[in-house]
Amino acid sequence: MKDLFSLEGRTALVTGGSVGIGAMIAEGFVDFGAKVYIVARREDVLTKKQEELAAIGACEYIVADVSTVDGIKRLAADYAEREKSLDILVNNAGTSDGRKEIEEVTEETWDTVMDLNLKSIFFMTQAFLPSLRVGASPETPSNVINIASIDGCGKLNTAYNYAYGASKAGVIQLDRLLGDSLAWEGIHVNTISPGDFPTALNKAARDYTDEMKKSIPAKRVGEMENIAGTAIFLASRAGNYNVGSNIVIDGGESVRGIQRSFFAKVWPDFVKLDR
Ligand SMILES: NC(=O)c1ccc[n+]([C@@H]2O[C@H](COP(=O)([O-])OP(=O)(O)OC[C@H]3O[C@@H](n4cnc5c(N)ncnc54)[C@H](OP(=O)(O)O)[C@@H]3O)[C@@H](O)[C@H]2O)c1
Repeated sequence: MKDLFSLEGRTALVTGGSVGIGAMIAEGFVDFGAKVYIVARREDVLTKKQEELAAIGACEYIVADVSTVDGIKRLAADYAEREKSLDILVNNAGTSDGRKEIEEVTEETWDTVMDLNLKSIFFMTQAFLPSLRVGASPETPSNVINIASIDGCGKLNTAYNYAYGASKAGVIQLDRLLGDSLAWEGIHVNTISPGDFPTALNKAARDYTDEMKKSIPAKRVGEMENIAGTAIFLASRAGNYNVGSNIVIDGGESVRGIQRSFFAKVWPDFVKLDR
């Protein structure tokens, strides 16, 4: 049982692994013995994280834009030149167009969110299937781990981020579809839905931490160990009976529902609309 969570000998690829939640997961994987490829668009940011992680284990990087099918195909080809197989694919890269009134949403802002948050998850999984299949078996499954959000499940986030919430709900249903269709060949697909983790994307959790934690039942925002620990669980032997699941890690936030008192501090004009 002592090596139940070990990732020794496993190879992983984490999109958006240069900063934020992806970097937290990448660090956890490296720490638990995996060789990890981190992927993002900005090479200077990737290099910095890769050097940091290479000091504790095996880490490499590949520059790619996973919001287009062309970018995904190039990434899969680059990866296949370096490695014969992939054991763990983490579809983490994501974006938001921020809180918007309905009239402010454009086709461009909608597509930017959908292309990265939802479309990329399907086509990344499709492109990496040959690599995922190599080492996959019912006893030692390969893993696809998607990062959705509590904005896609449970109670509504009444900041009304339309494209973001819809994209994340789509990820959760896609997870169930892919999970069911691929499990027979030893490829297990699961999703993690984080609550509030302080990152560049979640500036509210980063810049208003004290205010935000008052409305979270656990009285704090998410930390690296929470997200990395859940991803390590899913990627390890410990999690190899999970298929098509969606694990929420949010300190109870989605059970209670996000509190309007927090919005009043951060977006006073918005709350004045009194919906
Ligand atoms: N933070 C939270 O509280 C929270 C809560 C729920 C869900 N999530 C989800 O967790 C995931 C990560 O969020 P985060 O907060 O860590 O975001 P973040 O800090 O903004 O990091 C996003 C990462 O994705 C990369 N990326 C962005 N666009 C990309 C593209 N087109 N191709 C390849 N890489 C791209 C970024 O690097 P480059 O810009 O260099 O490409 C960066 O590494 C997202 O799916 C998000 O929706 C976050």
